[in-house]
Amino acid sequence: MSVAQTEKPKRITTHVLQEMKIRGEKISMLTAYDYSMAKIIDRAGIDVILVGDSASNVMAGYETTIPITLDEMIYHAASVVRAVERSLVVVDMPFGSYQGNSKEALNSAIRIMKETGAHAVKLEGGAEIAESITRILCAGIPVMGHLGLTPQSIHKFGTFVVRAREEEEAKKLVEDAHVLEDTGCFSVVLEKIPARLGAQVSQELKIPIIGIGAGRFVDGQVLVLHDMLGITHDFSPRFLRRYHNLYQEITSSVNNYITDVKNLEFPNDKEQY
Ligand code: KIV
Repeated sequence: MSVAQTEKPKRITTHVLQEMKIRGEKISMLTAYDYSMAKIIDRAGIDVILVGDSASNVMAGYETTIPITLDEMIYHAASVVRAVERSLVVVDMPFGSYQGNSKEALNSAIRIMKETGAHAVKLEGGAEIAESITRILCAGIPVMGHLGLTPQSIHKFGTFVVRAREEEEAKKLVEDAHVLEDTGCFSVVLEKIPARLGAQVSQELKIPIIGIGAGRFVDGQVLVLHDMLGITHDFSPRFLRRYHNLYQEITSSVNNYITDVKNLEFPNDKEQY
């Protein structure tokens, strides 16, 4: 299958993603948490923008994704939606906003959709949250699943190592992926699992499978924007490709600015009134 793109659709919808899977066109997805970055990546042509709960790490500086609140996710998502013209915007439901019961899950999803204008929500987990997913879907809200390394459960795992290497866990993951598809999810993210397992799930399921550390034989890829741009620099999992070293670029720009200010070289004659 050629990577040459057909004519770009005006707006990416869940149906467009399904068509992309059918014709073998890979789906590109990145995170964004604010208006300015969302505007750049939307205009650059990204298919899906995930307002990830990784905002908890990247924007707020927490060690895990657990502390970020529903109100904070809504703030980030509304900022992103204001910038977007073409991409599909998916918002992570944060820890504590859906695990209690399906009514709580539905109320949280409704808040996200009403207060942000986003197009879909993402939840971590398999069969154990199927009832909540069903209830959210019944309200007409598209749901993306997330299996494998699910960071909201990090204290259960105890470590960020590759998941589902053992047969039992791999079998459960495949079963969960089928449950998510049968329940009506429009797509599933697979995080940090063996590439052959990513390929298997992608082949068995009809819905698009988006990988992060799940190998290349899935239907699309997602990375955290700040990681792939090299803004974060103290996090280097094997799956991460850095396309830039913005940490270095920003540091050197700020150093130049400081020097100019200290030496009375900024502003110059043309930069004042
Ligand atoms: O929150 C996030 O950024 C995510 C991606 C890693 C898939 O869930």
